Amino acid sequence: MAPSVLLLLGLLSSTGSLPPPRTSFLLNSADRPLVLFSLPDVHNTTTLLLSDDGSTLYVGARDAILSLDVSQSDIIHLKKKVEWSPSESEINECQLKGKNAEVDCPNFVRVLQPINSTHLYACGSYAYTPHDAYIDAESFSMVQQDEAKGRCPFSPFQRNTAITVDGELFTATTTDLRGTKPQISRHFSKDGRPDVSQDSSLSLLHEPVFVSSSLDSSDRKLYFFFSEVGKEFSFVDELRIARVAQVCKDDVGGRSTLQKKWTSFAKAPLLCQSHRQLPFNVLQDVFTLQPPEGTDASETLFYAAFTSQWSSGPESAVCVFKLQDVRAAFTESYRTFNLLTHQWSPQLGKHSYLGKCGLDNASDSELAEVKRSFLTSNSVKPVGVGPLAVSSGQQYSRVAAMRTQAADGKQYTVLFLLTESGFLHKVVLLNRGAHIIEEIQVFTQPQLVKNIILSPSKGVLYVGTSEGVTAVPVARCSIYRSCSQCVLARDPLCGWSRTSRVCTGLDSHENMVQDLEDGNVEEECLIQTRVSLDTEVGVHLNEAVRLQCQKPSNLATLTWTSPRFRNLPEKLFILSADGSLSFLATADTFGIYRCEAVEGGYKEEVASYAVRQIASPRSMSPNPIAGENHVANNMLWFWLWYFMF
Ligand SMILES: *[C@@H]1O[C@H](CO)[C@@H](O)[C@H](O)[C@H]1NC(C)=O
Ligand SMILES: *[C@@H]1O[C@H](CO)[C@@H](O)[C@H](O)[C@H]1NC(C)=O
Ligand SMILES: *[C@@H]1O[C@H](CO)[C@@H](O)[C@H](O)[C@H]1NC(C)=O
Repeated sequence: MAPSVLLLLGLLSSTGSLPPPRTSFLLNSADRPLVLFSLPDVHNTTTLLLSDDGSTLYVGARDAILSLDVSQSDIIHLKKKVEWSPSESEINECQLKGKNAEVDCPNFVRVLQPINSTHLYACGSYAYTPHDAYIDAESFSMVQQDEAKGRCPFSPFQRNTAITVDGELFTATTTDLRGTKPQISRHFSKDGRPDVSQDSSLSLLHEPVFVSSSLDSSDRKLYFFFSEVGKEFSFVDELRIARVAQVCKDDVGGRSTLQKKWTSFAKAPLLCQSHRQLPFNVLQDVFTLQPPEGTDASETLFYAAFTSQWSSGPESAVCVFKLQDVRAAFTESYRTFNLLTHQWSPQLGKHSYLGKCGLDNASDSELAEVKRSFLTSNSVKPVGVGPLAVSSGQQYSRVAAMRTQAADGKQYTVLFLLTESGFLHKVVLLNRGAHIIEEIQVFTQPQLVKNIILSPSKGVLYVGTSEGVTAVPVARCSIYRSCSQCVLARDPLCGWSRTSRVCTGLDSHENMVQDLEDGNVEEECLIQTRVSLDTEVGVHLNEAVRLQCQKPSNLATLTWTSPRFRNLPEKLFILSADGSLSFLATADTFGIYRCEAVEGGYKEEVASYAVRQIASPRSMSPNPIAGENHVANNMLWFWLWYFMF
């Protein structure tokens, strides 16, 4: 693959790019209100965990762990808070390590997981000396805290991932001060099993950045997602590769070889690449979407946001991988690492035990093979072979996904993609491609550390940043004020109610107007006859006129028409970028003006004006045109006026 990668270096283009978001909402927009939780003494609220019932949001912050009541949709309030900060002397020691007291040495909580039915487990960077703690979820008090190497990073800026399964904790993190020693391990092992970690006689990982983890409960395996330097391409410097690694949940290590080390560790490349283009090789985030009820676990989907090492500007892609294909990669062939040449070669002969669980009693020779054959020959390819969506212009850094049933009874997937610049893109995956329904600004300052978590039961997405926690309702259908806008939005969560004649959520059982695939307004919104009256605009002769017209969506194009002209002559009319039409009121220009929006082949009148002359002489007017009646002169005034406003 690599030589062709290099050949393709010159061929980067942006085919199949996402269209722009249909509608945009800036931070604190009244149309798309968000709920922000922040307190003056609470910072870096970036580690998020939802209770099973979706009514409590636990937050790992700087020097604190919070429990937030999110049971109401319009307010978030603090239920309890546990302070958890290093002592002054511990901060001094941190400074002696060359770290900044304010930036690096507080305790940034980086793991927050339920450990059993009554307690939460937390791990924090704690003045560059990771500590962990147990929180009684009921009383929300800390019952115990201790130093804990290898469960979360020393640096608050390094990424890590952790997942608990039946009271056992699986972590992927760096384990040293410099942040160069990665480790995937199991802690608090049950049933008398030892804690297990990676074999360190060989480098199994190279500068990995861990982004996410997932449990395959039916196969009793865990998957870790990350990107790292791909050493199999020894002729390319620092080529990064996106990966998925597996370990078996119940692995106990070998008897003499690989004692207390994974016998099931293996890794596979994840490929996200458009046809004849460079791959998107840097993994940013992965979201696990469980299959619909009654479907086999192998249908589990992993939605992954990627960027590229080679991009000159912001660019990203979303690929989706199926559990079935991940499993297949680990049961097919492997490569073997040659300890003498430091090269990878295809594994010779059939070694059916590679990548399998239950090698506890495997022979030393088998485990010796396991030790050096941990890279699969095949990459995991995405569903549909290429990316679901490619964005030239946006750097997607976090992803969440939900499945929803639309008015036609079909299931649709909605993605939430957080951009580095602070916008949340809500994307529906249609047969014809991805469509960005809306973008919502959720923060303005760049955030080095941030996370999102989706609450499908509450219909809310939470964004945790250094400034606070923001709740974003997954939809606000009332922003679409007409049947046509409701249909053109193509939001599977919104439909036009024929009875109440509003755009609303789909929870009612009535038959709603919605056409996700075609957005066919004419057919769907027949009953909608727009009876709009022209807005009267009274002006004096030679007065400057500016008629407003607001684009109903970013995808619409506006045109102005008037029955007096076949085309509005450029020398009389100015069309502005904001859609407004400006001209000077003269005998030639009094009359009717209509502004129409065209979107997806559907034409809709947005505004219409009747511009008429006011007969009576003007009273006081600050307009510089007043008193002038020489048209040429007035034209000059008009241009001056136009460029001033
Ligand atoms: C949960 O874990 C905590 C901390 O180890 C322990 O004190 C508590 O007894 C456990 N609770 C249950 C129900 O096992
Ligand atoms: C491995 O051997 C031990 C003792 O010989 C036995 O108890 C255990 O069940 C064996 N494990 C497997 C996976 O076969
Ligand atoms: C913590 O928050 C501050 C802003 O309050 C930010 O500058 C800093 O980067 C954050 N640190 C981490 C580790 O998130």
